[in-house]
Parts: sequence; structure tokens; C-alpha cells
Amino acid sequence: MEKKRPHIPVLLNEVLHCFEEMPAEGVFVDCTLGYGGHSLAILERFPGIKLIGIDRDPEAIAYSTKLLERFGGRFEARRGRFSDLLPEILQEERVCGVLADFGVSSLQLDKKERGFSFLSKNLDMRMDPAAKVSAYDIVNRYPQNELERIFREYAEERAYKKAARAVVEARQKKPIESGTELADILAKVLPKRGKTNPATAIFQAIRIEVNDELGEIKRALDALEENPPKEAVVGMITFHSLEDRMVKQRFRKWSLSCICPPGVFRCECGNDHALGTMLGRKPIVAKAEEIERNPRSRSAKLRCFRFF
Ligand SMILES: C[S@@+](CC[C@H](N)C(=O)[O-])C[C@H]1O[C@@H](n2cnc3c(N)ncnc32)[C@H](O)[C@@H]1O
Repeated sequence: MEKKRPHIPVLLNEVLHCFEEMPAEGVFVDCTLGYGGHSLAILERFPGIKLIGIDRDPEAIAYSTKLLERFGGRFEARRGRFSDLLPEILQEERVCGVLADFGVSSLQLDKKERGFSFLSKNLDMRMDPAAKVSAYDIVNRYPQNELERIFREYAEERAYKKAARAVVEARQKKPIESGTELADILAKVLPKRGKTNPATAIFQAIRIEVNDELGEIKRALDALEENPPKEAVVGMITFHSLEDRMVKQRFRKWSLSCICPPGVFRCECGNDHALGTMLGRKPIVAKAEEIERNPRSRSAKLRCFRFF
């Protein structure tokens, strides 16, 4: 099973290093269990913890349950969204660590029938196959102004208007059924981007919308802020600037002791608002050798925070 691992965990040594600072005992929450690579290494390295792994994808849960069964009662898998499950766990358990490795797994991207890729014969992109809205619904039913919004906000695509118009014009002739069709429609109106498929950012934007990825991150950060787990370490791996900005801003906010508005003459807030400290100012990124081994790590950024 080890050799055929469907997803290589990114920044693995760096993640382990970040959790060296957490209490030796307690419940560790892996919000994005995936194919269990991070969880396996964490269970091995920290023998005093019990790990709860969350994923909304039943295939990931099934794979990891098998991979990690030898840890017996030290491992538990829970299927669902981390924005629903993390708040419950924070209330019920003494949490010592929380990891989130956002985005999709390599297997989700590579399995054409999951409809994430330019080569897919369908348009789906749901991490949870039982979720209501798929990429097909968005591409074929969203009004043009909504398409513009997601292409502008989530893809940060300059040609968002042209791209939305091209989609709407194409679907008036016939529904857009596949990743290949969508990529071809977009390639005609988007500027060429070297070896990268010009539709990459727009595919990612549709995926973000289908899975409400930014809303999920916001609600997880809100849950941690409302119920900060004492002395716990939080590590979050992001893959694009929108995600990273959310994590960076929240960790900064949590580390501020004084929350007086800028320009006040003397602190009036009590100067005791910090919830903890950021572990390192800068995000941790992959070294050249990891990027070579696993190109997916190219855009990964790890940020860590420790609560008081
Ligand atoms: C990048 S992969 C994680 C890989 C994992 N760290 C490993 O080592 O195999 C992200 C996983 O998180 C899951 N996921 C993403 N967002 C989620 C959410 N909001 N709730 C639950 N699972 C989520 C995806 O289904 C996917 O399996």
C-alpha cells in the first residue's frame, strides 16, 4: 500500500517539525485526512496522541481507514466537512494539534471520472459526491454575472468578462458536458500562458465555488477563534494566494496583544488580546528537491500558530 500511495503528502518533515511544539498528549485533528500521508507520519512520531481524521470524500476515508487500521483506537476517521466537525471536536476533546492541507488530492485530480481535469469526460469537481452542486451546474446554469464574479474573485483572471461570455455563448448552443469542452472554449478567449493550460485558474475557481473552499476555511478559523484549544499547535497548508491570505491575516490577528485602532496615543484595550504566537513570520515553502519529486508542492505554503 505504501508504494502505491495515491497522494504524496507535501512539506511532510516541515509539518512534523511544526508539531514538535504541541502538548505530548491529547487529540490531534487532521481536517483533511485525504490519503493519510500526514496522519500516518504524525501517529508514528507522536505516540501520546489520538488522531481524528476528517474528510468529505468517501474514497479518501475508505483508503485511510485501511492504511491506519494498525493504530487501533489511536485513529478515528469521520466523514463530513471540517467546518461542521471541527467545532464539535473542539468542544468535546482536549485538542493538542490541528492540521489542514487544503485543496484537492492528486487522486481526485487524476481520476478523470471525478471531473476535475481538462481531460475529464464530465464536469463534476465535487469532493463529496453527494453534494448538491457540481461543476456542470455552475458552468451550465449560473448567470453570466455570477460566472464573472467567480472568475474575477477566485481565478483573479483579468479576462473574466470574456471568459464568462464565451461560456454563456457556448452553452446556448448545447450544454457544456466535459472538462475538455470547457478548456477548449476558454482557450479561444484567454491569453496563452507558456506550458500552463490557460484555463488552469478558471478550473480552480470553479472547483473553489463547487466546494465552497474559502467558506470552509473561514468557518474553521472562526471555530478555532471561538474555542481556542489550550497550548495546541495549528498548521495550515495553502495552495493559492486567496487561501494563504485568509490564514495569514487570521494568525496575525490572533497574535496581536494590542487591538487599539491605529493612531491612538496610548493603549486603551488592556494589551492582553493575543491568543498565542505565530511559529515563524514567513510561510514555509518546499525545497527544490521536494518540488522535483512532487511538483504539486510548488505552490504549497505552511503557516503554524501555537495557542497559549
Ligand atoms: C490535499 S488533500 C489532503 C492530503 C493528505 N494530507 C494526505 O497526506 O494524504 C485534501 C483532502 O481534504 C479533503 N477536503 C478538502 N476540503 C474539505 C472540507 N472542507 N471538509 C472535509 N474534507 C475536505 C479533500 O476531499 C481531500 O481528500
